[in-house]
Amino acid sequence: MSTAVTTPASPTPHGPEWWRTAVIYQIYPRSFADGNGDGLGDLAGIASRLDDLSYLGVDAIWLSPFFVSPQRDAGYDVANYRDVDPRFGTLADMDALIAAAHDRGIRVIADIVPNHTSSDHVWFQAALASAPGSPERARYLFKDGKGPDGSQPPTDWLSVFGGPAWSRVTEADGTPGQWYLHLFDESQPDLNWDNQEVVDEFDSVLRFWLDRGIDGFRVDVAHGMVKDPAYPDYQPKHDPEIGGGGIYLDCPYFGQTGVHRIWRHWRTVIDEYPGDRILTAESWVHPMTELANYTRPDEYHQAFNFPFMFAGWDAAKLRTSIDESLKEFGAVGAPSTWVLSNHDVVRHTSRFGLRDSGPQGSGIGPRDPQPDEALGLARARGAALMMLALPGSVFVYQGEELGLPEATQIPADARQDPTWFRTGGEKYGRDGCRVPIPWQAGAPAYGFSPTGAAWLPQPEGWDAYARSAQEGVEGSTLELYRAAMAARTAHGTSTADLTWIEGLPAGVLGFTVADLAVYVNTSDTPAPIDDPGDVVLASQDFDGTLAGNATVWIQR
Ligand code: NOJ
Repeated sequence: MSTAVTTPASPTPHGPEWWRTAVIYQIYPRSFADGNGDGLGDLAGIASRLDDLSYLGVDAIWLSPFFVSPQRDAGYDVANYRDVDPRFGTLADMDALIAAAHDRGIRVIADIVPNHTSSDHVWFQAALASAPGSPERARYLFKDGKGPDGSQPPTDWLSVFGGPAWSRVTEADGTPGQWYLHLFDESQPDLNWDNQEVVDEFDSVLRFWLDRGIDGFRVDVAHGMVKDPAYPDYQPKHDPEIGGGGIYLDCPYFGQTGVHRIWRHWRTVIDEYPGDRILTAESWVHPMTELANYTRPDEYHQAFNFPFMFAGWDAAKLRTSIDESLKEFGAVGAPSTWVLSNHDVVRHTSRFGLRDSGPQGSGIGPRDPQPDEALGLARARGAALMMLALPGSVFVYQGEELGLPEATQIPADARQDPTWFRTGGEKYGRDGCRVPIPWQAGAPAYGFSPTGAAWLPQPEGWDAYARSAQEGVEGSTLELYRAAMAARTAHGTSTADLTWIEGLPAGVLGFTVADLAVYVNTSDTPAPIDDPGDVVLASQDFDGTLAGNATVWIQR
């Protein structure tokens, strides 16, 4: 380890390998809590709400990027990896936040973005000012264009956000020049991970934060760092069975096997540090065996289970997804993770309120069919209670513990997501799941900020979702999450084996886990449950008949 850890030792609420069973709560800093009243959430706001997270019972928080950034992709465009964006606070604020979280037994995971930098990063600015073939350009993926005058992009690849994945630069002498690759926005140039200088720089960045007491990293676009050196043309295929941005193995820029070399190396850096620090992969790959490969013992500790996220509210798909997850992650000795929502997808309360949902990043807007809010909430509560009974580790996205729906009526002139702009408004993008969350019913900005300012407009009618309206209120979604998180620990479900209960009515799933029997009714039809045990938790009233779109935990 390069320098001494400056913060209190990390807590160990779950003992060694805490990450196998942890509930990790995702904070999207700009939308969580605003301490200074400018309408953008910040580190001071997060610090002021740590006790609320203790009350909920989370084991760790994962902070989406808080680094210096022009914020063209809400911080996933980093200009300086070693400092906090002044909009969110200072390095001292971050040190204080880590210490305050640790004091409460909460670990802190940072979000590292190694596939690309911001175009404002000093490296990219130097690359623009340097000649083709220079060491400065060799840190990124610059190529000559096709055609006699190089005016055609090197490949036909598309940006994930829409439009071409290549942009052409103007050389120092004013002539049209080379092209650079950006799998996302043009302000997010892809780094060249074949360049040792890039590898060394990120080792140093990891150590910078590990030395400050960070407990691990969620790694952005973990499947993207290596590109097929032949640079073949490729158009993404969309397959509803894969869904959610999952990709095929023939994709030349995602899911290349060369990425595993990088992760094996990162694991050695992480393992230099005491205290059970972790790496979590954001890898949108398909099939599940490919995803599990990221969690082999010398790579990541965990990976987001996106196939589970997109299994929907469908008994057969959920059962298949759960079986595959336990089998494939289990085969490499990793815990499965479970996740229903994050800052890139339509909130599951609203996905489940639609009969059909679009691909990742499309969003729901004013011109779309609107979700059935009550149906979506019932299913979301049922899904959460199912998820929190499953063996492994769980991710909760801020606001889902409130049952918060997607904001579907954001006006065009308030939208911020690059997807909206790069598709000319064809796709709404991800703003709807990023709206600042409600804390206080009746307060300006629902208590998100002291001034009532909010960087995205909050819908009317969110008082009922506010935390103040739910805390201590029996049957509220907040109390359901809180009780389930405590009960999963008390009953030991997160380390237990799962066994399916057969012979249940159509649309009803049942499984035993530890000393519980869990029944999930994905259909609209109430289902009699012949189980004499006491009810431990239920997402809707249960009297021997399980309501449609509901889950119950019964003591065995
Ligand atoms: C995945 C992140 O979750 C998303 O928000 C971001 O836009 C892309 N990676 C690009 O960094």
